[in-house]
Amino acid sequence: MNAATLTARAVPLVTFGFAAGCTGVQSALDPAGDEAARIALLFWVMTGGALVIWAGVVALAWYYGRPHEASESRTRDRWLIVGTGVIFPVVVLTMLLAWGLRMLPPLVSRAPEGSLTVEVVGEQWWWRVRYLTPDGTTVELANEIRLPVGAPVQFRLSSDNVIHSFWIPSLGGKMDMIPGRTTYLAVHPTRTGTFAGACAEYCGTSHAYMRFAVQVVEPEAFEDWLDRQRQPAVEPATPLARRGRDVMLASGCGACHTVRGTRAAGTIAPDLTHVGGRLSLAAGTLPNDTASTARWIISPDRMKPGVHMPAFHMSDAGDVRAMAAYLEALR
Ligand code: CUA
Repeated sequence: MNAATLTARAVPLVTFGFAAGCTGVQSALDPAGDEAARIALLFWVMTGGALVIWAGVVALAWYYGRPHEASESRTRDRWLIVGTGVIFPVVVLTMLLAWGLRMLPPLVSRAPEGSLTVEVVGEQWWWRVRYLTPDGTTVELANEIRLPVGAPVQFRLSSDNVIHSFWIPSLGGKMDMIPGRTTYLAVHPTRTGTFAGACAEYCGTSHAYMRFAVQVVEPEAFEDWLDRQRQPAVEPATPLARRGRDVMLASGCGACHTVRGTRAAGTIAPDLTHVGGRLSLAAGTLPNDTASTARWIISPDRMKPGVHMPAFHMSDAGDVRAMAAYLEALR
């Protein structure tokens, strides 16, 4: 392959690579919130500055690398070394540091008093999400966060196992979830959409299977959604779903999972009250449908190594199908 063909092939690939990295549901360079916009600005200023400095260095290297008379001024060379090697970096880095420090406080400050508060707990390997509603009730769900557009939100973050890092690139920076401590992150979503979040700190075997979805919606839609989440689970409407519920309760699933409105009240695993309405299963690992639910019940460890949920591969296939039908109907 000659150089021209290589260039012709490489240019679109590199351009596509850059473009694909700059947009999308999980890009810090496609901000959907005030905090992410600040971070993106910092990135672009630093990238632009680095390119300008790089061009200057290359130009100087070229200029001084060319053949020249030994008699050319030594004083000028000395000044060049002091100027570009000492003065220039000190001035540029000091300016960048001052600007960066000025940008920091809004990124780490708390949301105003009375803002919507969402508690997120890092688990191995999923996210426990709790809404503290004004009437004092708590709504718990998993791996999914819904937020109203145009209002600040306070996240209260913790972990009772290992250190995780909570990150929604489109909305803001990362924040560690540290056992024994509560950390805070405030975001202010500025446009609606569905964005992806992930754990940004290695936390064990299935760290990479620890994702979540953030849906930013209009305030009215948010209130409707929260109202529905507050409701107990719907009664199963078909004989198959009824069988599924009975099998689930008889198999001891309720020791770990809660389905509000039934006697399943376990707290160590995700709350399943409205699991059928979620965007994915197992923290972004599987699509949310009956077949995936059944696969998950039979062998969760195949899809998520190290998962704490036991496999139910001894279960009768009909029972598993019924449980999947019941869970899918919990919308
Ligand atoms: Cu949790 Cu990585």
